[in-house]
This record gives sequence, C-alpha cells and structure tokens, in this order.
Amino acid sequence: MSPQEIVKQTFIEAYGDNPLVIVRAPGRVNLIGEHTDYNDGFVMPMAIEYAIWIALRPREDRQVHVQALDFDAHIHLDLDALSKGAISPAEYIKGVAWALMQEGYPLNGWEGVMKGDIPIGAGLSSSAALELAIARAFYEVSEFDWDPNHMARLSQKAENEWVGMKCGIMDQMISANGKADHALLIDCRSLETRLAPLPPNTRVVVMDTMTRRELVESLYNERRQQCETAAKLLGVPALRDVSSAMLKANAKKLDPVTLKRATHVVSENERTLEAVDAMLAGDAKRLGTLMYQSHMSLRDYFEVTKMPHRPFDALDIMVQCARKHPACFGARMTGAGFGGCAVALVNNDAVHNFCEQTAQLYAEQTHIEPKLYVCSAVNGAFWAERFMS
Ligand code: GLA
Repeated sequence: MSPQEIVKQTFIEAYGDNPLVIVRAPGRVNLIGEHTDYNDGFVMPMAIEYAIWIALRPREDRQVHVQALDFDAHIHLDLDALSKGAISPAEYIKGVAWALMQEGYPLNGWEGVMKGDIPIGAGLSSSAALELAIARAFYEVSEFDWDPNHMARLSQKAENEWVGMKCGIMDQMISANGKADHALLIDCRSLETRLAPLPPNTRVVVMDTMTRRELVESLYNERRQQCETAAKLLGVPALRDVSSAMLKANAKKLDPVTLKRATHVVSENERTLEAVDAMLAGDAKRLGTLMYQSHMSLRDYFEVTKMPHRPFDALDIMVQCARKHPACFGARMTGAGFGGCAVALVNNDAVHNFCEQTAQLYAEQTHIEPKLYVCSAVNGAFWAERFMS
C-alpha cells in the first residue's frame, strides 16, 4: 500500500469516517547550488515523489491530534498553550503553528494521520516536507490564502526559531513550489523562481550512501559563520554580492580557510546560473560537467563531503563510482553533506544498468549496500485527495 492509502485506511479505522482531505508535501534533491542559500545566492532543486502525507479533518476546538505512523507517536497539542519540548515530530507541528499564529493567521484545530516515505537524515529534506505538510493541513481547515513563498518563509522560521536548526530557505521553497518535470532556479534573496526543464532523455538518480550525517548542526553552523565573516571582510551584505574577479582582487583580506569557503560559494553561484542556461538549451553534458565541478568545490574548498572520524569518504566514493558509467553526465553530493545522498544525471536509456553498476562498485569499496532511487520531479505541497462529506 502507498503511504497515501495507509493514511486513508488508518484514518477511517481511527475515526470511522473519511477524512476531509489528504495533503502531501514533497522532499527534494538539489541538482546544483549547494551551501549558497544562506548566502542569498542561487539554488536549483527539484521536488521528488518521496513525500509526507496527512489525512485530516477539522476539529471544533483548538486542539491538534496527530497519529504519526513513522514515529509510532500520538501527538496532542493545544494551540493556546504551545511550549517547547525535546526534539520530536511534535516540535515541527508546534513550530509551524507558532510561526503562522505569530503572523496573525487564524488557525483552527484538526485531527489526522501522518506518514512519509522520505529517508530520514539522508539530506532529502524530510523536515521541510513535514513543515509544509503541516502548513497545508492548517490551511485546509482555516481561513487564509495559500502563498507558497510565504508558507516557505514561515516554515523556515519554525525550523530556525522553534526547532533551533539554522537552515537556509532552499528546502522549504522547493517543497512549497516544486513543478512536475522541472527543477527550479531559486534566487534566495528575492525568492524569485525560474523553471528549468530537465534535459531531454535524462533521469535524476538519488544515491543514498546509507551513511548518516553526524555533528552536522555544528559543522553547518560553522560554515555559515565562515561565510558571514567573508562577506563582512569583503564589505558586502552577503557572498551573493561577490564575483570571482572581485574575490580574486580582494583575496588578501581573507585568511586561507575563509578564502576557501568564499571561493566555493562564489563559484557555485556562477555555476548554478550557468546550469540554468544549460538546462534551457537541453545540454545534459554541460549540466553534468557543472555538477562534477560543484562536487569538487564542495570537497576541496567547502570541505563538506568527508565525515570526521569515518574510515572512508562515502560521498566522494559514490560520485567516483557513478562517474565510471558511460551513461552518467554528472554527479555530486546533495544537501548539507557530511554523509547522506549524492545525485547523478543519467541517460535514460541506460539508467537501470547505471544503478546496478554504481551500487555494485560502491558496495565493493565500502561494504555498505547503497540505495539508489530514479526520481521524477513533482509538484510542491498541495492536496492529494479530497472526500465528499
Ligand atoms: C541543508 C539546509 C539548506 C541548505 C543545504 C546546503 O539542506 O537545510 O537550507 O543550506 O543544507 O545547500
């Protein structure tokens, strides 16, 4: 049974009736533009079919009751008495409710069943999907307009200020705005988006190294800090405002580590803008080359492909394994790094052979069975099914 079927059936068993609606919000894979979002830069993610579904109906009061099947948890909360607890799925629900109410959204209570199929901790944005699914659930039972960018901002606020993870805006933006068959170029300063079609006859393959991020929060925050320091020393609001030529001319103002971090961000923004041109031209080869360059920059300058205290470098190995297949146009780590997933752009005609060979090579080198997913680009957070009452 699909997760959508499961939430429907479980809802009917629990409440003896159909839900009002099933909402769905997708995870994402980022094709290029990594660690640029919190530098006001450019990213190019696509929403994927792995998602979170909630079957729900309104309540008369201001309570929210959720059965979270993946966590074996029954979450009960009162919108008039929200208080922070230890990290759990409940904190995401509280955080989104809090962020919406802070902006004056009139919220009603609801009850329902939630389930997802996004691998957790793999760098495919299960948290952002959860936030957008919850925002959409509140929308379905309350009186307010659905503005995807605003919902993304409020979800990010929930994660930054309630959950305490200082992520950028990419994951929430793509979960809210994804478009079928397209990646989205997002300007993380203006939140303007531009559709970027996947090159003809190519597939996007997500390659889960099955290693999970460790210490990611402190390492992520350290990178953010280094980028902010670089921008300050260069006298600009954010690294988005720096070109390669400007960085070269001012390199002496930065210490070697800060210079490396800035070199990645500045070049990655340029690569991402070039990638959108390649996609509009249907040029898979060019896009793939940019993806390889992005990985090398993340490995050598931003230094987020290797995990401290690990005997092998899973993300680097995965990209090397993918690169050996002639049908692979390009590959790179995706998401925050330090473990999790890589992504490849592959010729559709040989995609299954690519998956087999890459998985085998990776397993030989690491003694870990990876998981490879051939992904399609899907639409962002919306309703998946409605029922007559
Ligand atoms: C995580 C964050 C995003 C982004 C990426 C790196 O996924 O949630 O905001 O910064 O890392 O590109």
